[in-house]
Amino acid sequence: HGASGTFPEGFLWGTAFAANQVEGGFDQGGKGLSQADVIPFRKTGDYVDITSLMKATDAQIAEAIATPGAAGYPKRSASDFYNRWEGDVELFAELGMKALRMSIAWSRIFPNGDDAAPNEEGLLFYERLFTRLRERGIEPVVTMSHYEMPLHLVTEYGGWSNRAVVGFFETYAKTILTRYRGLVRYWLTFNEINTTLIEPYTGGGIIEREPQDGVDPRQAGYQALHHQFVASALATKAAREIAPDAQVGCMLARMAHYPATSAPADIVRAQWDNNMNLFHTDVQVRGRYSGTVRRFWRDTGIHVAMEPGDEALLAANTVDFISFSYYMSLVSSVSPELYGATGGNLFSTIKNPHLQTTEWGWHLDPEGLRYVLNDLWDRYQVPLFIVENGLGATDVLEGTGADRAVHDEYRIDYFRQHLQQVREAIEDGVDLLGYTSWGGLDIVSASTSQMTKRYGVIYVDLDDEGAGSGDRIRKDSFHWYRELIASNGATL
Ligand code: BG6
Repeated sequence: HGASGTFPEGFLWGTAFAANQVEGGFDQGGKGLSQADVIPFRKTGDYVDITSLMKATDAQIAEAIATPGAAGYPKRSASDFYNRWEGDVELFAELGMKALRMSIAWSRIFPNGDDAAPNEEGLLFYERLFTRLRERGIEPVVTMSHYEMPLHLVTEYGGWSNRAVVGFFETYAKTILTRYRGLVRYWLTFNEINTTLIEPYTGGGIIEREPQDGVDPRQAGYQALHHQFVASALATKAAREIAPDAQVGCMLARMAHYPATSAPADIVRAQWDNNMNLFHTDVQVRGRYSGTVRRFWRDTGIHVAMEPGDEALLAANTVDFISFSYYMSLVSSVSPELYGATGGNLFSTIKNPHLQTTEWGWHLDPEGLRYVLNDLWDRYQVPLFIVENGLGATDVLEGTGADRAVHDEYRIDYFRQHLQQVREAIEDGVDLLGYTSWGGLDIVSASTSQMTKRYGVIYVDLDDEGAGSGDRIRKDSFHWYRELIASNGATL
C-alpha cells in the first residue's frame, strides 16, 4: 500500500456496465431474445420511490415476443455499444481506464440457451472487444450472467428454478472460459446474486406465477438461488481446469443495514438483516450455508432441494475474491411502521434521518462504503473489488456542436466523497483490487429502463424513447476521473 495515502500499485480503476443495458443490437449477430429484451418501458411519473419495474408477466412476454423492433423496449437498442464499441473503447483508453467491468450476453453465445453449438458471431464479437481492450491496456473484468438469460430458458424451462438450467449454464461457462482463455483474467459468475430472492424474474428467471396453495412464494426464489450457487461453483471449477491463471469472483449487492436505534432488539434485527445479505458470500467464500439461513428455512417451511454432492461441490469451489456493488446503506428496525420509507431499485427501506437521498430516493452514504469494506474484509479475509458505485442523476446537456458539455459537479462530489472513504479503508488495511464506477457511458437503467437516469462520465445523446444522435460527449466528471486515474488517486 502507498505510504502517503495513495492507492496500491496496479489498482484497477475503471468503469462498469452490463450487456443488456449498453449493447442494443438485440437482433443482430445471431443473438436470441433475452429476458431484458421483453421488459417494456413503463412510465410511472417521477420514478421516485419505486420498486422494481424489471418484471414482465406471461402476457407481457407473449406480447413482447410478437413485437418486432426496439420501440417500447429500451434494452433492445440501449446505448448501441454493439455497433459503436470501437469508438467507445477509444474513449475508455483516453480516460486511462485500467479495467472495464462488462458482461457477456448469454443469448449472443447460445441464442436459445439449450442450443447444441454456440453462435460463432457472438463469440467473435467479444473476442474482438477483449483483444482491443487488451491492446489499449484495459483489463476486461467479465460477468457471465448480469440480469439476463436466454428467454427460451425462461419460457420453456421456467428459468433457474429448474435444475436443467444449471447444465446449460455450465456449457455456456465452459465455452466462454475456453474461447477467451488468455484474454480474460477476471471472471464474475452472477451479478448481485442476492437479488434472485428480491427479484426472482431478473436474477432467477422466474416468471410471476401464483404459487401453489400453501407454498411459500419465496420457495422458488431459494431453489433458483441454490441452482445459481451450484452453477457458480461449477463455473469456478471449470475455470481452475481451463484457465488456471484466471481469478473468479462472486458478486453481491452489499446492503449494509444499520439499526434504527440502540435498542438491543433493533441491533439484533440489523445483525439478522446483514447476515441474510451476507449468507450469499458465506456460501461462495466459506463454502457453506450459514446457520441463520438454515434456521430461516426451518421457521418458514422452505425446502431447498439439493442433489447429493451439491454441498461438497460448494465447499470445494469457493471464489478467489469478492466483488460487490455499493450504492447505499439501509436501516433496520423491529418497528418499521414508526418511520418513513425511501427507495432503492429493487426494494424500499426505512429513511435514515442522517442521510440525504438522490433524485430517485436512494440514500447517499459515502462513509457506509468504508464500513462495508472493513466489514467484508474482517469477515472473509479475501481480496475485495468494488465493481459498481455511482450516482443516477438527470444531466443537462449544454452548448452545441463541439462545445457540448455536461457540468456534473454533483457526480464529481459523489465520486470524491466515496473514494475518500475507499482510501480510508485501504489505510485501515483492506485488500482492494480495484474500483469500477457504474455506467462509464450512460446506459439504460436496470430498474426503470430510463436512459435519462444517467450514471456515466460519458453522456450518450439519446432519450428515454431512444431518440437522439447517439453522440458521446465527455462530461466534466470524465476529465476529473481521467486526472484521478492518471495520478493513481493522488488528486483526490
Ligand atoms: C445494480 C445493477 O443493482 O444497480 C445494475 O447491478 C444497475 O445493473 C445498477 O443498473 C443501478 O440501478 P438502476 O436501476 O438505477 O439502473
